[in-house]
Amino acid sequence: MSPRSPMRIFVTRPIPEAGIRPLKARGYDVAINAEARDRPAEERELVAGARGTDAVLSLLTDKITSRVMDAGRPTLKIVANLAVGYDNIDLIAAAERNIRVTHTPGVLDESVAEHAFALLMAISKRIVEGDRYVREGKFRSWGPMLMLGADLAEKTLGLIGAGRIASRVAGFAHKGFRMKILYNDLRRNERLEDEVGATFVSPLEALIPQCDFLSLHCPLNAQTEHLIDERRLGLMKPSAYLINTARGPIVDEAALVRALELGKIKGAALDVFEFEPKVTEGLLRLDNVVMTPHTASASEATRNKMAEMAAANIIEALEGRTPPNLVKIS
Ligand code: DGY
Repeated sequence: MSPRSPMRIFVTRPIPEAGIRPLKARGYDVAINAEARDRPAEERELVAGARGTDAVLSLLTDKITSRVMDAGRPTLKIVANLAVGYDNIDLIAAAERNIRVTHTPGVLDESVAEHAFALLMAISKRIVEGDRYVREGKFRSWGPMLMLGADLAEKTLGLIGAGRIASRVAGFAHKGFRMKILYNDLRRNERLEDEVGATFVSPLEALIPQCDFLSLHCPLNAQTEHLIDERRLGLMKPSAYLINTARGPIVDEAALVRALELGKIKGAALDVFEFEPKVTEGLLRLDNVVMTPHTASASEATRNKMAEMAAANIIEALEGRTPPNLVKIS
């Protein structure tokens, strides 16, 4: 009998070694698409890479379409996303082909919540604008009206989506700044209510006008695409700030630019973009916007944990067990 050839894993882009090591230690044959170091993997690369593999380890930038899955048939058993979000994967196509999909929940909550709060503070305290002002040599004197921002203490923070990340943001806001927490989600989060006195407000039209800060923490899906559109932006207080560390397409970016230009809202802080990695031109021209390049989970420790978790999901699936972080396909 000929020895069984090793399981093959296709990694769509370079990832931390912490995710590669355990796969190699299992004797798997690991192919990394090194071409796509600083850009999303292209469909042709994904299709070529998926051929004959047992598992695909994907990033949120890579569209795992039915074509990619078909290229992996009949060997492909699992697509393990190195992200908590999985809107880049066609879940229906995966279910139809009996391919498991996993993600990396939990390990990035602290990092993303800290980043969301850093953005909230950066925009309301005009940190980036102030830094630019100093560097450009414009700082000639302290002034009583120079770069006035907003305080956080006892203000109202609205959360759209009230899962693990939102709950941590709420903790920082409430415990650190005595902020009042309002939230909206598909279901109530009683723990959040107990821990920080959060109040569930529905519909969004009732929540939005009450908030001084509105922070997005829901997944991207057909129901949440453009959830924050022209009409809802129009419901925000002119003094309010929008924070997005979830997914770009939840916000209609053209409408956001108009709202910021017309002073309908005070500012926005964005880690994610509707047409990522492209950024809507209007945002680049505005001072009342702070932007980071989808780096909310980008601490070394967190990215290592995400990579380890993606690898662990693959190992479980390939060894015939149920991977712990399976995406439920309803
Ligand atoms: C995720 O994992 O979905 C995050 O967006 C990464 O920062």
